Amino acid sequence: MGKYEFRYLSQEDILALNIPYSEVIDTVEKGMSEFGKGTCQLPVKVHTNPRPLTFLNAMPAYIGGDQDVTGLKWVAGFPENRKKGLPVTWGIQVLNDTETGGVTAVMDARWITAIRTAAVAAVTAKYCKVENSHSMTIIGAGEQGRWNARLFKMVVPELKKIYIDDIFPAAIDAYLKKMQPLMPEVEIIPIRSPKQRQQAIDDSQILLSATQRGDKPIIYCENLHKGMLGLPLESTAWDGRTYTQMADRFICDDWNLVKCYLDDGKYTDGLDKFVNNHQILGQVINGTACGRANQEEFVIASSHGIAISDVAVGQLILRKAEAQNIGTMLPLMEENDILR
Ligand SMILES: NC(=O)c1ccc[n+]([C@@H]2O[C@H](COP(=O)([O-])OP(=O)(O)OC[C@H]3O[C@@H](n4cnc5c(N)ncnc54)[C@H](O)[C@@H]3O)[C@@H](O)[C@H]2O)c1
Repeated sequence: MGKYEFRYLSQEDILALNIPYSEVIDTVEKGMSEFGKGTCQLPVKVHTNPRPLTFLNAMPAYIGGDQDVTGLKWVAGFPENRKKGLPVTWGIQVLNDTETGGVTAVMDARWITAIRTAAVAAVTAKYCKVENSHSMTIIGAGEQGRWNARLFKMVVPELKKIYIDDIFPAAIDAYLKKMQPLMPEVEIIPIRSPKQRQQAIDDSQILLSATQRGDKPIIYCENLHKGMLGLPLESTAWDGRTYTQMADRFICDDWNLVKCYLDDGKYTDGLDKFVNNHQILGQVINGTACGRANQEEFVIASSHGIAISDVAVGQLILRKAEAQNIGTMLPLMEENDILR
């Protein structure tokens, strides 16, 4: 046995698979559930930061149970890329055979990262929202602002209104132009002033912020009300007291990861209240932890992104690609004997 090949999948190969978003949501939910059962391995991500405000994260994971899949995402976040016409968040993901360790696939990780982040938030909403969540406010009309709107409507069918805010009015205009035709069943309402933002939050049962890291928070306790689900995709966008004073319940994808962000000072007022009293999303899905005790709670869900969701979506992609014979088979090696 000498020759060994793996499947290479570009972004366009992945798009050509036309994977229904509902299948991605189910796959992410299943992966998080497995993590909640304790059958997975998730080393804490390591990173390099070649320029200020940039990162490259190495994110390995193994998912046990029926999924039995392992892999590694190597993902970059470079906020200045937008000015260069490049994606802010991009990278590659490797999947490996769990029997031999052999590489089975190398694939674009941009689509995976975009959709799995929104899928995790949407699954969180499925378990932690209040009844009749008819309105949602999204702050940040970028990539995640779009993906979350799309996926939330699938898990929160009663959603009728999405308020959208951004510091750049042109970003809101572009959002409306792209998203309203894609989601005709939802009214997408632009926010054009701080007063309108507050009115939107007052009317909303779900508040999601998808902004880049800024100098100061954009959400304070005074902006919030009980009976909400709050989802900061960037934890520092919410003032420290929103966690320590406003939140009745704290949901996260992985407490070890939250602890890293806590040690880095990303929760300015700490999280003492939740150290022994947080809920892991996977356990909420499994019914071994509680996502919401009543309609009055303010539930805050702070998921920093774990490779369980990436690897689960990667496996879904690879299975579809194998079935449809999409992608390019590339040689890793031709023969076993390499000494010359
Ligand atoms: N937790 C996770 O797993 C995960 C994964 C991916 C991205 N993220 C985070 O999600 C956030 C959004 O990512 P993205 O890819 O959508 O970024 P993006 O750059 O595409 O969009 C961010 C948008 O927020 C807007 N914005 C910035 N500051 C603002 C402010 N103060 N008020 C209103 N709007 C503001 C920007 O103009 C931009 O349109 C980032 O912080 C990113 O780190 C988290």
